[in-house]
Amino acid sequence: MSLVVTPLELPERWDEPGPRGDAFRAFHAHAERSNAMRFGPDVVARSPEERLASLQPSLAEACRAFVAHRDGQLVGALKVYTPLLESTDVAEIVISAEPDLPDAEVLDLVEELTTHGEQVAAGLGRGDFRGGSLAAASGAVTAATGFGGVDPDHPEVAPLVARGYVLEQVYRISMVDLAALPDLDERLAAARAGAPGYDVVAWAGETPAPHRAGMCRLKEQMAADAPGGGVLFEPEVWDDARLADFEASAASGGRTIRTVAAVEGATGELVGFTSAFVGTSTVVNQQDTVVAGAHRGHGLGALMKLANLAELREHHPNHTRVVTWNAEENRPMLAVNEATGFVTVVHDGVWKRRSVS
Ligand SMILES: CC(C)(COP(=O)(O)OP(=O)(O)OC[C@H]1O[C@@H](n2cnc3c(N)ncnc32)[C@H](O)[C@@H]1OP(=O)(O)O)[C@@H](O)C(=O)NCCC(=O)NCCS
Repeated sequence: MSLVVTPLELPERWDEPGPRGDAFRAFHAHAERSNAMRFGPDVVARSPEERLASLQPSLAEACRAFVAHRDGQLVGALKVYTPLLESTDVAEIVISAEPDLPDAEVLDLVEELTTHGEQVAAGLGRGDFRGGSLAAASGAVTAATGFGGVDPDHPEVAPLVARGYVLEQVYRISMVDLAALPDLDERLAAARAGAPGYDVVAWAGETPAPHRAGMCRLKEQMAADAPGGGVLFEPEVWDDARLADFEASAASGGRTIRTVAAVEGATGELVGFTSAFVGTSTVVNQQDTVVAGAHRGHGLGALMKLANLAELREHHPNHTRVVTWNAEENRPMLAVNEATGFVTVVHDGVWKRRSVS
């Protein structure tokens, strides 16, 4: 029987009674099963509140979600993300399959949902399509960056290759377990001693007033300098309203953003930060890490990562692991993470196809 793809209409609340709530809860349960299979239990687990919040539009991005049924069974889902402030030609097409689906059915699902995602994207005036798949540290098809690869026959990959997508970049997903770092305090003390001209500051939630302008400049630097391979986004412009919106949406659904930043002692200037998103899962998601260009190579990346782990240990003792996503070609960031103790969990491929119309 053919695949039936239906837009997901978001309920007011995750536990709303009735068909909208039921459809959302089925979508959420599917997302949890699919993520647990791909990343391992808990690694990217979310509560239903967090998931509903993550689907709401922000100032910078909108998300449209769809569910796919075959013979009345939910077999997969599709999300189409569209940046709203920059890169307004881009659409990210994210597909998930039920864990127990046979390979041939995964292949058909990815094929059909990619077609559906491209149609949705084109309808929104987007022509720069981004896709995703499982990847590896190396494979028969190497990413355009030269780092990481894929098996072209994999059921998530074959449909993308067939329709002309190019594997632009491979991301390494890696995790550290605080229990494996009994010497964290000693290492943090050594990192502090190795960066004498700098102070470390930390906060939960909104960026404090004295650091907001500096944070906006670092957000712009993060967008510009994190390696993007052939899937670069346009330069970002951040002001206080954008920062406030980002912080509000990151905290929605009950999550906390915990930030560790480096301040230059002589000027009081914010010169780097790293952010950790603490939610329901015991695994914390570490996202942006950046050091301003003139201050790189002084050990601040390593210092902030270690300080962040110490902050988590103190304020969130039940959150014992941290996961992070890094481009496989980002040697400076991977050097810091490997030295900290992060270990590879899985790889993700980032694909691109320009629409011909
Ligand atoms: C990644 C980043 C935060 C590191 O900050 P930093 O303060 O320079 O980090 P550190 O000084 O603690 O360590 C840098 C490590 O990278 C290594 N390194 C620096 N430049 C390098 C290069 N071009 N090639 C390879 N290794 C490099 C350093 O030797 C050091 O490793 P070591 O301790 O084994 O010698 C910084 O380079 C940055 O802001 N990059 C742009 C943003 C980015 O990519 N963020 C991560 C996105 S996921």
